[in-house]
Amino acid sequence: MKTIENNSLSINDVGSSVELYGFVSKKRNLGGLIFVDLRDRSGIVQLVFRPEDKDYAVAETLRNEYVIKVKGVVSERESKNDKIATGEIEILVQELTILNTSLEVPFAISDETTALEDTRLKYRYLDLRRNTLQHNLKVRHQITMAVREYMDSKGFLEIETPVLCKSTPEGARDYLVPSRVNDGKFYALPQSPQIFKQLLMIGGLEKYFQIAKCFRDEDLRADRQPEFTQIDIEASYVDEDDIMTIAEGLVAYVFKTIKNIDIKLPLRRMPYDEAMRLYGSDKPDLRFAMPINDITDILKNTGVTFLKDAIDKGGIANCLVVKDAASKYSRKEIDKLTDFVKTYKAQGLIFLKMEEELTGSIVKNLTASEISTIKETLSLENNDLVLIICGDEKTVKVSLGALRCKLARDLNLIDKDDYQLLWVTDFPTFEYSEEEGRYVSCHHPFTSPKDSDVDKLLTDKANCYSKAYDIVINGYEAGGGSIRIHNQEVQEKVFEALGLKEEEIREKFGFFVDALKYGTPPHGGIAFGLDRLVMLLLGTENIRDVIAFPKTASASCLMSEAPNVVSDIQLKELHIKLDK
Ligand code: AMO
Repeated sequence: MKTIENNSLSINDVGSSVELYGFVSKKRNLGGLIFVDLRDRSGIVQLVFRPEDKDYAVAETLRNEYVIKVKGVVSERESKNDKIATGEIEILVQELTILNTSLEVPFAISDETTALEDTRLKYRYLDLRRNTLQHNLKVRHQITMAVREYMDSKGFLEIETPVLCKSTPEGARDYLVPSRVNDGKFYALPQSPQIFKQLLMIGGLEKYFQIAKCFRDEDLRADRQPEFTQIDIEASYVDEDDIMTIAEGLVAYVFKTIKNIDIKLPLRRMPYDEAMRLYGSDKPDLRFAMPINDITDILKNTGVTFLKDAIDKGGIANCLVVKDAASKYSRKEIDKLTDFVKTYKAQGLIFLKMEEELTGSIVKNLTASEISTIKETLSLENNDLVLIICGDEKTVKVSLGALRCKLARDLNLIDKDDYQLLWVTDFPTFEYSEEEGRYVSCHHPFTSPKDSDVDKLLTDKANCYSKAYDIVINGYEAGGGSIRIHNQEVQEKVFEALGLKEEEIREKFGFFVDALKYGTPPHGGIAFGLDRLVMLLLGTENIRDVIAFPKTASASCLMSEAPNVVSDIQLKELHIKLDK
């Protein structure tokens, strides 16, 4: 067995005999001497073959990525290399064995690569040899171990839940698995272990956690994968504060263990309504300020007719103040920002610049009093840029929220080493789905409403709030959870508010609703996206960088070519006919 890691060798080992294993990373022939960079999981060490060495001729045949074993003696290098950890030493090789040869690799195995991501995904096993990915997977392992340590220390039991199950209530599309032995029936892969973890509480396990695989058939983004991993947590006899304390303690422990960063606890809490009002997002990035300002009142009687009309129709006018940026944005640049906000359904983008005086196309239609109130309310200084969007509340908030993040990136306002964590709390219980023409759950139907809102569940759905919370780190939703309903009457009321019929409830969650009737302890929990946590701690924006075998944006694996067609025999066994 391999017992020595390359990087463990140092000047203190000079004179020792060692047996090393690894890949040939590079070979150079210099004045008769052959130098080979031997790469293992820990790093690189230089091997030297002299013409008089017994295996010199074998060394001449080495090519990149050959797998070799060497025996030799550690020796001090004449010319040191301070770029690698073992740069003070080299191995004078006495015995070389080629354990395997390799084809020429399609891209160089190096830290930085220009190879296309598709090529790297097709040859993921080669990509994994790169130090960058090995480092990411090592950190992922350390985070997972830290999570297990912390949860164990708090008395939580790690319990596995099924992967072949019935549809769960997260609301994305399910991945389905046909059952061979149950003609015409399908399992759903879990979107999360939500129902099972609640059943574990009903089962009296009191404190549960799991590093759980979850599956969601949804549109993919840079921070989403169709199969991803959650740190899933549930506990009995808890309230919101209890779960938030455990969860933020876990995050602080992970940050301390992995990055030696002290996170100040308790974390700041911000109600959902405030996050939307000031940042146009339920996951505000607080590494920079630039809040959204409401200037509806200032403009409600304005002579700028299209603004007045929009406000008269119940719309709002909100703006961002971009400090000291007016000179950086030409007409053309602002047109690009306008195109950007239009992707969020905004009608347009109005700009004002604070030069000697306030300038911009609408200024000629503003009164002197409107101009001075705008300047004063927004505390405008020379060279400030004001970007205004007018329209319905949701569109205005969401598009300015997205613009705020874009501007911060474009203007380099974000300190990459900064971590800003917060809780977003008090989510609405219901949201209106235009698509379905009815109110649907903001989280899932087992989320407990605030005690004060139980009486409004059927009469004032738009103003009901939940005992739900999300933990947000640098603008990412790192985790989310809630206190669950354990009271039968409240559960029935929520189902009724959602317009779920008795048969539908029975069909979807009948067994679960029955279980709730057998003495369910009050309980609640949370789930972190492990992949997202790893991304944040590694400072990458691409979720594929932290997963050994990720899928592409079209949910396929370029290496194994999954998903793929199956044989007619398999389809027949599953009683499936394809509609070709
Ligand atoms: P939720 O749906 O908010 O809650 O998911 C919890 C966390 O999982 C991560 N996440 C994802 N990560 C990568 N790819 C995806 N497709 C993806 N979808 C979600 C996010 C998110 O915050 N059962 C509830 C939790 C609970 O109530 O206890 C749930 O799954 O970081």
